Amino acid sequence: MKGLFITLEGGDGAGKSTQIRNIERFFRRKGLVVVHTREPGGTPISEKLRNILLDNENSEMDPVTEMMIYAASRAQNVREKILPAIERGDIVICDRFVDSSVAYQAYGRQLGDMVEEVNRHATGGLVPDITFWMDIDPEAGKARAAKAGDLDRLELEKMDFHYRVYEGYRRIAEKDPDRVKRIDAADTVDNIRDHIYECLEELCRSKGI
Ligand code: TYD
Repeated sequence: MKGLFITLEGGDGAGKSTQIRNIERFFRRKGLVVVHTREPGGTPISEKLRNILLDNENSEMDPVTEMMIYAASRAQNVREKILPAIERGDIVICDRFVDSSVAYQAYGRQLGDMVEEVNRHATGGLVPDITFWMDIDPEAGKARAAKAGDLDRLELEKMDFHYRVYEGYRRIAEKDPDRVKRIDAADTVDNIRDHIYECLEELCRSKGI
C-alpha cells in the first residue's frame, strides 16, 4: 500500500504547527508511521536553501531567483524524503508545498503561470492527497506572526503583498475544492482539530485505510 501525502497551507501566523501535531496524533493512533517535513527545507540541502530564502540580509533577491530557490528546495525534498516515504506506505505531512509558491510567488510577487510550470518539474507532478488551507485574515496573521518572534524576509513584506497572497490561496481553494479544505483559522483550536479529523476520516475511508 502507498502512503498519503498531506500538506498545510496558509498565510503567516495561521497556527499550522498545532494542527500538524494533531494530524500526527490522528495517524499514529491508527498505528501508521508519520514523516514530518517542511518547506522551504526538509533535507540538509533544502535547509541550506531555506536559510538563503529567509535571510533578511538578502533584500536584493530577484523574485525569479526566489521562486527558483523555493522550487529547488522542493525538488530535493520530494526526491530525497517525500517520495521514498510515500512508497514505504508512510503518512507524509508537509508544512507548505507548491500552493505556497503559487500564493506567494505567482500572486504575491506577481510572477503568474511560470510558477506552476517550474514547480511541475520540481515535483515531477506529485500532488497532495489533501491540503488544509488555514484561512486567516492577513492583518490578524501578521499580528500573530509578529507576536511569535522576529519577522523573516517574506513576513516583512508590505500588507498589499499579503493581501495578494491571500487572494492566491482563495483562488487555489476555489479551483481545487476536492483537494483543498478551507479551515477557519480564527475558530478555537479544538473546533479546528475536529474539522480536520472529519476530513481525514473521509480521506481514510476513500483510500481504504
Ligand atoms: P516559515 O518560517 O516556514 O513560515 P511559516 O511558519 O509561516 O510557515 O517561512 C516560510 C516563508 O516562506 C513563509 O513566509 C512563506 C514563504 N514561502 C514562499 O514564499 N514560497 C514557498 O514556496 C514556500 C514553501 C514558502
